[in-house]
Amino acid sequence: MTADPAPGAIPEPELARLKRQAKDHILFYGRELSDTLITKASGARLTDETGREIIDFASGQMCSTLGHGHPAILEAIRAACDDAIHIDSTKLSPPVIELAAELAALLPPNLQKSLFLSTGGESNEAAIRLAKLHTGRFEIASLANSWHGTTAGAQSSTYSSGRRGYGPAMPGSYALPPPYAYRCPVRHCQGRCDMTCLDIGFEMFDQWSTGAGAAVIVEPVQSAGGIIVPPDGWLKKLRALCAARGMLVIYDEAQTGLGRLGLNFGFEHEGVPPDMMTLSKTLGAGVPLSALVTGGAIAQSARERKFSFYTSHANDPMPARVGLAVVRTLVGEQLAARAREMGAYLRAGIDGLAQRYEVLGDVRGRGMLIGLEFVHDRQGKKPNTELVERATKRAFELGLVVNRPGGAAHCWRIAPPLTIDRADIDAAIEIMDRALGECGAR
Ligand SMILES: Cc1ncc(COP(=O)(O)O)c(C=O)c1O
Repeated sequence: MTADPAPGAIPEPELARLKRQAKDHILFYGRELSDTLITKASGARLTDETGREIIDFASGQMCSTLGHGHPAILEAIRAACDDAIHIDSTKLSPPVIELAAELAALLPPNLQKSLFLSTGGESNEAAIRLAKLHTGRFEIASLANSWHGTTAGAQSSTYSSGRRGYGPAMPGSYALPPPYAYRCPVRHCQGRCDMTCLDIGFEMFDQWSTGAGAAVIVEPVQSAGGIIVPPDGWLKKLRALCAARGMLVIYDEAQTGLGRLGLNFGFEHEGVPPDMMTLSKTLGAGVPLSALVTGGAIAQSARERKFSFYTSHANDPMPARVGLAVVRTLVGEQLAARAREMGAYLRAGIDGLAQRYEVLGDVRGRGMLIGLEFVHDRQGKKPNTELVERATKRAFELGLVVNRPGGAAHCWRIAPPLTIDRADIDAAIEIMDRALGECGAR
C-alpha cells in the first residue's frame, strides 16, 4: 500500500510535465526562477511540490503582510464573487467608495482622495503624470538606489535595476544620492547620515535642472535599495528642499505602507505627509491593487485639467473589497503595533546572528522590515554577494525563504508577514544560523 501524498505534493509524472512546460512556455522576466514549485501558501508558510513547508520571510513579493490566506481576505474575495468582480471604469461600487473613505480616515487632510489601480508601477506612473499636470513641469527626481516600477515613467525613476537596453529614460529624470550611511554615497559620513548627501544632491539638481522640477518620489525607507533607513529629519528636510523649488513630494509606500514599519504609514515616523502617496503591494495582500492618494489643490487640478489615467481596472470592485479587508484588519488586529512588538523580537534574533558572524556588516530597519548587509570583513566592508547567494540557497533548502532586495544583491531583506508567531521567527533564525555556518560564514 502506498502512503497518501503530503498536502501540496505534486506526484510524478505531473511534476516533470509542469517543469518541462515551464521551461518551454514561461518567458524570462527578471531574475532566474526557482526550480521548486510552490503549491500552497498559508499564514507565514509556503508548501512546495514535495509537500515540504517553508517559512516565508519575504511575505510573498512583499505583499502578504497579513499572512497568506488570511480569513478576511478569503472572505472578501468570496463576497466579491457574489457581488461584482469588475465593472466599467466610469462606474463606482460600494467597496471602492468605502475603501477610499476608510483610507482617508487614517490619513491627514491633504490625502483624502484615491484612485485605485492594479500595480505599484502603475500607481507611481499615475502620481508622476499628475505631478506633471499639476505643476506644468516635467522633471522628476528620485534616489539613486530606488525601485518604483517597470512602466516607463516609474522605470525612469528607478535607478537600482532595469535601465540598460531600452533606450532613453523619460526626459527630466534625475538621481539624488540616498542616505546610505553604511556606504555614504558622497564619501562623507561614517555610520550616521548627517544629510550632506541631500544638500549636495539638490545643489547639483539646481545646476542640472531647466527650472522645471515637478516632484521628488521616494520611499520612506528604501527597500529594494538595501533597506536604507533615512536619519530622523531627512523627510522634513527633503520636504523643505522641494518646497523651496515648487516641487511636490511623492511617497511610494508600496512596501512601507499599512503597518510594516510599525506605523500605519511610513511617513508617520517623522509626521511629514507627502503631497501624494502611492500604496500597492501591501494594500492588496497578494491581489493586484494599488492606489494613488492625494487631495486639495492637486485633486482640484486632476478634476479641472482632466487628468487621464484611465485603465481597464481603475476602481475595480473585487480588489477594492480585498483592500478594504486589509485596511480593516490593519486597524482591527492592530497590526502596526504588532509589527513593533514582533519586529523587536525579530531584530533581537538577527542582532544575535550579527554578534556571531563578522560577515554581517550592518543590520538596519524599522518594525518588520530589516536589512542585513553581507561583507567580507567589517574593516574593508567589501560587499559579499557570493556568500549571500549561497546562504540564500541553503536557507531555502533548509526551509526558509529569505530574499535579496532587487537593488542590493549583497543584502538579505527580512520581512515576514506581520502575523507571524514567535515559534516561526525562532525557527527561521535557527535556519539562517545554520545556513550561514554551513556556507562557511565567519
Ligand atoms: C517601492 C516600490 N515601488 C513600486 C514597486 C513596483 O510595484 P509593482 O511591481 O507592483 O509594479 C515596487 C516593487 O517592488 C517597490 O518595491
